[in-house]
Amino acid sequence: MPAIITSLAHFVPPDIFKNSYFEDKIDTNDEWIRTRTGIIERRFQVEGALTDMLVPAVEQCLSERGISATEIDCVIVATITPDNVFPSAAATLQKKTGMVNAWGFDLSAACSGFLYGLITGAGLIESGAAKKVLVCGGDKMSSILNFEDRTTCILFGDGCGVVLLEKSEDPAFGIVDSILKMDGNGGEYLYMTAGGSAKPASFETVENKEHYVVQEGQSVFKSAVVGMADVAAEIMERNHLIADDISWLIPHQANLRIIDATARRMGLDSKKVIVNIEKYGNTTAGTIPICLSELYHDGKLHYGDYIVLASFGAGYTWGSILIKWGMK
Ligand code: COA
Repeated sequence: MPAIITSLAHFVPPDIFKNSYFEDKIDTNDEWIRTRTGIIERRFQVEGALTDMLVPAVEQCLSERGISATEIDCVIVATITPDNVFPSAAATLQKKTGMVNAWGFDLSAACSGFLYGLITGAGLIESGAAKKVLVCGGDKMSSILNFEDRTTCILFGDGCGVVLLEKSEDPAFGIVDSILKMDGNGGEYLYMTAGGSAKPASFETVENKEHYVVQEGQSVFKSAVVGMADVAAEIMERNHLIADDISWLIPHQANLRIIDATARRMGLDSKKVIVNIEKYGNTTAGTIPICLSELYHDGKLHYGDYIVLASFGAGYTWGSILIKWGMK
């Protein structure tokens, strides 16, 4: 039987930073940010770490399902901004939420982290290795942004989402299909220079601001437009679905123009495309579970809906997942 999402929740920090926040700090303006990216504001977590955002999301997810933290078998945290390099954010989250019977780990696939995590968790459910898996996706991007680099700092925000996976009772519902891809040649266009074993942190690396996101925006943009659209169209084709069959596209929120290109390739009406980039910017592994949770809690996800998740991010990593929604 396939894995199915049986509960979900998200959390974004309360502090809102509008585009105008950057105007007296770097050479940018609201008009440029809006028209080039679609972003109007984003949330930054002023205090605390990634797991402090995940705790309320996990608690809401469990409470809406009516189960206790002790029932979780495994917790996967997709992120590039864990509280610490080690122990894992999964271990810290386990302690903070009382998931005493869970094992778990962090998964690093940048903006595609949630999709990779979902398929990893689904595999554990389908194989019978676990009964209840929590898949978390989120990032505190403000912890790795160079607020003097106008080409990157305006793009990102902080936030996270969580889904609970269990075994579906009906083979037609749940995670139906997935296409996941990776191309390490993309590594040179989106990365962090120091802080890993290749270049451990030192006085010099800190002074040179090498612990921040570096991006060659146009190269990433060109690959993302093609990559995300390709996998979204392919998953429809190979499941014999046409645009009318799809209820929602939930794309990674990196740039409105990349989202539009994906929707066009799928032949989807813009009304079926979930966009919240204007409120949150790019929360990396958080974008897709936040969109999904907002859609669900707004009452717009219906039993039997076909939804397509699609992402593109550092690595490069990208992919699409087809879900037949099974929550009533
Ligand atoms: N404010 C004002 N001007 C800015 C700016 C800012 N915040 N950032 C860059 N510019 C300038 C550039 O310096 C450049 O100036 P120049 O023409 O004088 O050299 C000009 O704006 C155009 O820059 P460019 O990089 O060509 O813009 P763009 O249309 O490619 O948009 C991104 C930049 C980053 C928004 C876009 O490339 C993008 O979205 N890339 C992909 C991001 C992504 O998907 N990341 C994946 C991670 S998930």
